[in-house]
Parts: sequence; C-alpha cells; structure tokens
Amino acid sequence: MDSIIVTGNGPLNGQIPIAGAKNACLALMPATLLSEEPLTLTNAPRLSDIKTMTELLRSLGAEVTSMQNGQVQAMSSHNLATTRADYEIVRKMRASNLVLGPLLARAHHAEVSLPGGCAIGARPMDIHISALEAMGAQIELRDGYLHAKAPGGLKGAVHELRFASVGATENVVMAATLAKGTTVLKNAAREPEIVDLVQCLRKMGAQIEGEGSSTITIEGVDRLHGATHPVVTDRIELGTYMLAPAICGGEVELLGGRIELVEAFCEKLDQAGIAVEETANGLKVARRNGRVSAVDVVTEPFPGFPTDLQAQMMALMCTAEGTSVLEERIFENRFMHAPELVRMGAQIDVQGGIATVTGVDKLKGAPVMATDLRASVSLILAGLAAEGETIVNRVYHLDRGYERVEEKLRNVGAKIERVSGS
Ligand code: UD1
Repeated sequence: MDSIIVTGNGPLNGQIPIAGAKNACLALMPATLLSEEPLTLTNAPRLSDIKTMTELLRSLGAEVTSMQNGQVQAMSSHNLATTRADYEIVRKMRASNLVLGPLLARAHHAEVSLPGGCAIGARPMDIHISALEAMGAQIELRDGYLHAKAPGGLKGAVHELRFASVGATENVVMAATLAKGTTVLKNAAREPEIVDLVQCLRKMGAQIEGEGSSTITIEGVDRLHGATHPVVTDRIELGTYMLAPAICGGEVELLGGRIELVEAFCEKLDQAGIAVEETANGLKVARRNGRVSAVDVVTEPFPGFPTDLQAQMMALMCTAEGTSVLEERIFENRFMHAPELVRMGAQIDVQGGIATVTGVDKLKGAPVMATDLRASVSLILAGLAAEGETIVNRVYHLDRGYERVEEKLRNVGAKIERVSGS
C-alpha cells in the first residue's frame, strides 16, 4: 500500500484547480440507468470511487466510456443485462446503493447488496427503504441483499424522510422521475450535489421542482432522454485546499471555487482569522494576521458545516490559539483521525461525539495511519504544518476522493511525495 511523506515546509503560495465533485458524480452516473439514451458527464473527477461506479454500471449492462483522461464519462444504458448489484463491487463503496432507485424505476425490480464504505458509522439504509416502500416498492433483506420489486411500477407518494439523508434523497428523486403521478419529498437533503443531480435529470426530461429546499416535488414522466451535463465543483476538495494556506500561511487561489458552496465553512474561517476573497477565477485564501484563533464547530446537513470537512478543520484547530469544541452530529464514529493527530503532538480529548482541541504551538511529524477518506487528508494538512517528516500510511482511502493530491500541493510549494508500497 502507498504512503505519503509530507515535510513541513513553510507558507504555500499559488493556485490549485478544484475538480468536479466526487459525491455529485457518484449520484449522476447511476442516472444513466433511467434512460435508454446516452448521458455524458463533463468535469468528472479522476478518482478510484468513479472507477468503482463505472465497474458497477458496466456489471449492470451499461456502456461507460471514459474520455479526456477521465474528465468525460460517456454512458449509455440501452439494454440492462441484470438488475443485481453484486456484493463484490458494492462493498467497496457505499454510494453503490444509488443504483437502487434508478433500477426500481426502470426495471421495476432490483437486488442490491448492502453497502460497505468508510468505517465511520453504521450507515444503515432504512431511510431509503421507507421512502421507496411509500412509493409502492416491496423490499426484503435476504442473504445480505435488498430484494426490491414494484410490480406495475412505482407510484408517486407524499413522504417525509426521518432525517435529511443525502443518499436517500438522491435515490428517491431518481426513482420518482419515472413513477406514476406526483411525489412530494419532505425533509429532503439540500446539498449542492442534489441540486446538480436535479439539474441533470431536468435536462433528461424530468419534471422536478424545489431542489435546494426541504421539499422536492417530482412529477413522474413516461421516459427520460439523453443529456450532457457538467459536474458541479467539489466543495469538499475546495474546503480542504482552502485550509492549506490557513494552516501553513501564504496565499492560495482555489480555481473554480465559489462562496455559496462553502458558506458555513467560510464563516468559521472568518472567525478563526482567515480571509477569503472572491476573485475572477475562484477564491483566494490567506491568514489575516499571525496565529489562527480557536473556533467551535457543529456538523450539520447543508447549509450547515459539512461533516466531510470536520477532520480537516480539526487539523487547523490543533495549532490554533485557544480551545475549540468540535461536535460531530452526522456520523457516530468520525473522530478516528484524533488519536493520529495526538501522535503528532496535538491535544485532543474525545468524549462521544464531541472533541475538545487545545491548540499547541507546533505539531511534530510522526508516522500516522489514514483511517478513512477525510481523515487521510486531515493528516496530510497537519503534516504540512508540522516540524519534520510525517508519513501517512494506508493512503488508498485518499485516492477515493482526491485526485493528484501530491501534484496539487507541490505546485503551491509543499514538500510532499508518494512512496509506492507492495
Ligand atoms: C453522503 C456523502 C458523504 C457525506 C454524507 C453526509 C456521497 C456519496 N456521500 O453520504 O460524503 O459524509 O452524505 O453529508 O454523497 N442514515 C441512516 N439511514 C439511512 C441513511 C442514512 O440512519 O437510510 C444515517 C447515516 O448512518 C448517517 C447519516 O444518516 O449517520 C447521514 O447519512 P447520509 O446523509 O445518507 O449520507 P450518505 O448519502 O451515505
């Protein structure tokens, strides 16, 4: 397994281009299953999770052609070979469950293995299941697979999610595009990736209103057609790299960045003493003056502070002046980076879903273990600010969500290299 070696090297300066959003692309790709006509995505990120989704769609009979070095994904699902999403693929990535809604809508049945994914919590599927059942699906769990059928097709329904789950919202919206009648989804998730999915579905002929609000209304249509759609900017990659100059000093411009994607996050950066300026090409980030101040953070569904930036924010707080309290409300086990940061000299006390971080003057490089996707990058950020060498082991998680990390950080002056393991 590869490792990444980072050596603290002072301020960072320059530009970092931000890719298309992994989480948007992972929801957009299964939308191909809804139509016999081609769906083409541009601005796709080049990540191993996208390869896993490609493998899954191909196993279902879709044709997926990756062009322009992975930035364009041309898909066509003229014929479906099977409606079974196999454990061997699904276990690699939880987002595989996003084929359930489209398959049920198109073929009226689906067998989808329960997913795996990051080890950050239980992440069950009950919210997806209740919503699809409200639309007339019959779903049973047998042999580790959800066996779902909707004889005669799905029917529109009024349904309120018990929690604004991102994946459940995406599955239901896709399923409802081909259902009979109107679906009103209440307490829907409001993430920009959902807005992006709806915009794409609309280009395919779907009748949807209310995306970005808590109530989404979908009027079922008989069929969807082909479309071409650019994937929205990755707000998590954006937030991650905004933290690089915050943590190391210097000034970095994030190309393609937009404030409305990261508003709650920018408010916290502002309180911490970090200036974010909109430019013609993106966002420019620099510390306002010397040391960063401690701020408290609570993770919430969008438009709140994203759980996917909590680990990276913790890395920043490790050397802030004062004590910060980070409360994780989305996942129950998402502080696995804390003991690794402690190995680098951070002072962190974790009690259940609350981590209290007391800033220290300097972190010290150490060998650390990447436990999940966002934890991996938080350790790289910490390493950039630490004295000496940090070796981040087990970085395969990183490649699931960040393309060309070493290159992007090296271009702004970081000392970072990848060492190939067996
Ligand atoms: C998506 C993102 C992930 C992000 C998360 C929360 C993708 C591919 N992944 O994941 O990066 O961290 O949103 O912003 O877009 N839950 C249930 N039952 C369900 C579904 C979810 O209890 O049926 C719980 C989960 O265990 C978790 C919480 O709800 O605690 C949030 O999950 P959800 O919003 O569904 O996240 P994902 O779509 O899996």
